[in-house]
Amino acid sequence: MTEPVLTMADLTAHKRAGRRLVMLTCYDALFARLLDQAGVDMLLVGDSLNEVVAGRHGTLSATLDQMIYHAASVRRGTTRALVVIDLPFMSYQVSVEDAIRNAGRAIAETGCHAVKLEGGVVMAPTVQALVSRGIPVIGHLGLTPQHLNAIGGYRVQGREPAAADQMLADAKALEAAGASAVVLELVPQLLAARISAELAIPTIGIGAGPSCDGQVLVLHDMLGLNREFTPKFLKRFAMLADAVGEAVKEFGSEVRDGRYPAAQHSFD
Ligand code: KIV
Repeated sequence: MTEPVLTMADLTAHKRAGRRLVMLTCYDALFARLLDQAGVDMLLVGDSLNEVVAGRHGTLSATLDQMIYHAASVRRGTTRALVVIDLPFMSYQVSVEDAIRNAGRAIAETGCHAVKLEGGVVMAPTVQALVSRGIPVIGHLGLTPQHLNAIGGYRVQGREPAAADQMLADAKALEAAGASAVVLELVPQLLAARISAELAIPTIGIGAGPSCDGQVLVLHDMLGLNREFTPKFLKRFAMLADAVGEAVKEFGSEVRDGRYPAAQHSFD
C-alpha cells in the first residue's frame, strides 16, 4: 500500500491554506478504488454502513468486527486517499482502556489512518489518550447517530443558544485534546461557520452549510442509489437507482427473449 498524498498531520495546514476537504463514505474496495482515482481526499468507513449496506435500522447495532471487515476492504482499494474508520457504539464509551484497545484493533487490522468517534467534552480524555498513543482522531458533533435514543430523532442540533454554546465548547475540547478534524452533522449554517472560524483544525460538514472546511456525504445517497432518503441537505450528483433498474430490466428481458447471451458472449 502506498502512502496517501494528504496525511492526517497535514489537515490543519490544508485548512490554513484555504483548501476544502472532500470526504465520502465508502464501504468496499471497488468503490474505494473509484473514489481514490477520482481524487477524493478522505474516505469514511462510517457506521452508516449498518443501514446502507447491511440493511439494519440505525447504527447502534454495528460491531467492531463488521467495521474492521469493511474498513480493511476499503483500505485495499486505496493508494492515496486517507481512510477513516468509525468506532461503533460502545466500543469506546465504556472506558479509556477499552477505547485504546478497540481503536488499536481498528487501525492495526485495517491499515486505516484515523478513527472517528462521537461526542465532545465528555470524550476529550479518550481523544487525548488515543492521540497520545499514535491514533489520530476525528470528532463528530451535532446530530450524533449513536445518541439517537437520547436525541429522539434525526433533527438539526444546536438551534438554541445554550446548545450552540455547548457545541462550540465541545468542538474546542476536541481540538484541545488533539483531534485532527471535527465532523458537524445537521448543524445550522451560522453555528457551523462560527465553530469553523474558531477552530484551527478543519470542520467537515454534512447538513451544516457552506462555511465548513470540508464536506462529507454518504456515497450511496449522493449517487442516488437510495430513492427513499431525501433530506434537505442532500444533493444527488447522479441517479444511479434508475440506471441500475434499467440495466437489470434489460438483462431480464434479454434473458427471457433468448437475446442474451449472443454468439459473441459464447465459447466455441
Ligand atoms: O457513519 C457515517 O456515515 C457518518 C457520516 C454521516 C458523517 O458518520
